[in-house]
Amino acid sequence: MNSKTMLADTGQDLHRFQATYEALFPDDVLTVREPVSRDEDVTAAVWALAAQGRHPALRFDQVSGLGTPLVTNLFASRQRVGRMLGGVPPEGIHAEYQARSRRLLAPRELASGAVTQQVRSSGLDLTRDIPSIRHFATDRGPYITNAIIVAEDRDEGIGNMSYHRSMVHSPGEIATSLHSRGHLWRMLRNAEAKGRPLPVAMVIGAHPLFMLAGAARLPYGADERQVAGGLFGQPLDVVRTPRYGIAVPAHAEFVLEGVIDPAARAEEGPFGEFTGYSSDRSTNNLLRVETLLRRDDAWLLDVVGGNSAEHLNLGRIPRESEMVEKLRDRFPGVTAVHYPSSGTHFHAYVALRQSRPGEARQVMLGLLGWDPYLKTVIAVDEDVDVMRDEEVLWAMATHFQPHQDLFVVDGLPGSALDPSSSPDGTTSRLGIDATRGPHFDGVRARVNPEAMARARAFLQRAPSGAG
Ligand SMILES: Cc1cc2nc3c(=O)[nH]c(=O)nc-3n(C[C@H](O)[C@H](O)[C@H](O)COP(=O)(O)O)c2cc1C
Repeated sequence: MNSKTMLADTGQDLHRFQATYEALFPDDVLTVREPVSRDEDVTAAVWALAAQGRHPALRFDQVSGLGTPLVTNLFASRQRVGRMLGGVPPEGIHAEYQARSRRLLAPRELASGAVTQQVRSSGLDLTRDIPSIRHFATDRGPYITNAIIVAEDRDEGIGNMSYHRSMVHSPGEIATSLHSRGHLWRMLRNAEAKGRPLPVAMVIGAHPLFMLAGAARLPYGADERQVAGGLFGQPLDVVRTPRYGIAVPAHAEFVLEGVIDPAARAEEGPFGEFTGYSSDRSTNNLLRVETLLRRDDAWLLDVVGGNSAEHLNLGRIPRESEMVEKLRDRFPGVTAVHYPSSGTHFHAYVALRQSRPGEARQVMLGLLGWDPYLKTVIAVDEDVDVMRDEEVLWAMATHFQPHQDLFVVDGLPGSALDPSSSPDGTTSRLGIDATRGPHFDGVRARVNPEAMARARAFLQRAPSGAG
C-alpha cells in the first residue's frame, strides 16, 4: 500500500490519521514528551519552530492539568495539507480542494461511534470536563480554538458548520463569538424571530478533513457536513446527539450539545486573532450545555491562534481555492494567485498575462469585490513569482507610479477583526497595478544561462571558509 492509500485508509478517525501520518512521515511530526505548562507553552513552541522555518505537526504528551494528550499545528504546512488531500503538491491544493468539495455527499447515520463511548447529561463541570489551554499572555484565559458549531434548522431543512473561538464561562456554559456574522449568526436571528433558542452541537476535535470542511465557504443553506463527505470521498459517518438529534461526526473527540440563547450574553475575549492582534470585538454569545459526548481516549486537538501559519492556512485555503477558480474562469490571463502570510487575510497577489490595457485593474476589482476579507491586491506580470513577497515588492518598487497606478474603493464592509477598520466596521480597498504596462521601457538586467552554469561549477570547486 502506498502513502496515499494509507492516509486515505485512516477512516474518519483523528487517532488513526495521526498514527499513520507519524509512521509515514516521522520527520514531519515532533513529539514533546516532557511536561509543559498549559499557559502559553504550546504557542511558544509553535512560534519558536516557525522562527526556524519549521512547521511540524506537534504532539504534547503531558500538558500540566489537561489530562489528555494535545495535538496541534496540523495545518501549518501546505505540504501536509496536500498529503491530507491525497498526496497533491502544495500548488495542487486549490484544484484538488475544489474538485473534492464540490462532490457533496449526504452523511451516513450510525447507531454509535467512538464519540458515544461516554454520554453524560448530569453532573457536568466544563471547567474539568473540557481541556483547554491559554494561547497568549493577552488572552482572557484558556480557550477552545478548534470548536466547530453544528446547527440544524428543521423548518428550513438546512444545516451549517462554522468555527467559533470559545471559552468555558461556568460549569455548564460556554461563551463564544459569532463576529464573522456568517450563517450561524443568521440561523440564530431566525430562531430569535421565532422566539426560541437555537439547538447546536459543538464538535471539539475530529479528523483533519472534517476540520477543513468546517472552514468551507458555501452559500447559505449548503451544509459543510456534505463537504466533509466530498473531502473524504465517502459520506461523513455521523451519530445523532441525544437531546436535539443533531448529526455530529461519529468519531469526534468531544461534542457538547446545548442551546444558544439569542437573548443571553457572556463576556469573552480578548483573544489573539489572525490579524496578530488581541481582539475583544466579540458578539459575546452564550451556549448552555446539556450533554457531553466523548471518546474514552479523547485528545485535545488545538489550533494555535494569532497569525500562526495553521490559523491562516485553515481559514484561507477554502477561500483561496474558490477565488483562484473564479478568477481563472473569468480571466484566462491570470497565471497565479497568492495570499501571502505577511498580509494575514487582507492581501492578495495576482500574476497575469495582459491582453489589453486595463485588464489588471479589472482582475483586481473582481477579487476585491468577491473576497470580503481583502483590502489590498497587487497585480504583477506573469514572470514575477507571487509566492515571494520580495519579488512582488520589487515589482511594485520598479513598475508602479502612485499617481496613476492605484485605485481606492471606500466604505465597504470589512473584517470585524481588522484593528484599523472604522468603528462602523467599514473598510476601504486598494488595487495596486505593478504590471509593467504598455509604455514601460525598462530592460531587465539579466545574466546569460551559460554564465550561471559556469558560476555554479567554479563555486562548487572553490574552497569554503578562510582557506
Ligand atoms: C480556526 C478558525 C477560527 C475561527 N474563529 C471564528 C470565531 O471565533 N468567530 C467567528 O465568527 N468566525 C470565526 N472563524 C471564521 C468562520 O468560521 C468562517 O467565516 C466560516 O466560514 C463561516 O461559516 P459560514 O459560511 O457557515 O457562516 C474562524 C475560522 C477559523 C478557520
